[in-house]
Amino acid sequence: MAQLKLLTISGSLRKGSFNRMLLTEAVAAFGDADHTDADLHLPLYDGDLEDAEGVPSAVQTLADQIAAADAVVISAPEYNKGISGVLKNALDWVSRTESNPWANKPTVVMSAAAGRTGGETQLFMTMQCLAQLQVHLVPGPGIMVAGAFDAFDDDGRLKADSYREALAKRMALLRAEITSS
Ligand SMILES: Cc1cc2nc3c(=O)[nH]c(=O)nc-3n(C[C@H](O)[C@H](O)[C@H](O)COP(=O)(O)O)c2cc1C
Repeated sequence: MAQLKLLTISGSLRKGSFNRMLLTEAVAAFGDADHTDADLHLPLYDGDLEDAEGVPSAVQTLADQIAAADAVVISAPEYNKGISGVLKNALDWVSRTESNPWANKPTVVMSAAAGRTGGETQLFMTMQCLAQLQVHLVPGPGIMVAGAFDAFDDDGRLKADSYREALAKRMALLRAEITSS
């Protein structure tokens, strides 16, 4: 069997992002895969820009990466109890590409946030947007890393066994989903 293609998408652009750290942990937990990390440095969605220039090449690259992936893992922070603008902008742009690369795509959504709920509100908001795009959201224990500033060690590893175990279960479910179909 060809190597599985795993795409990760961080809803935070910053280098030291805890969501990036969580994605790195998810990739390790997923195991052997051809991994690509998406770049969400995209222009803001603007219908005039789209009319004048079409879909930007960076957006098409992202859409192609989603289409090519066997599975996608998204991790995003919660901003003011909602979805990160960076992630929503990317979802909106990709929805303007010719075909829907998200259709039936096995996907897991996670979050790391400073607050006590670990970004639960944004997580459900993101899942709602993805449902509209016909994403196949793989069910499983929610990964919402609370108090993100204290949740990772200096090497960017999750400190708590409970999070590591939940992540391992979730990634095993994702792998099983795509290898059993
Ligand atoms: C504009 C803004 C809004 C935020 N709103 C929330 C929030 O609603 N809930 C929460 O838990 N943390 C909130 N935070 C804190 C983030 O969870 C924290 O900055 C987190 O580290 C961001 O994720 P990152 O490390 O992946 O960049 C907010 C941060 C910013 C910059």
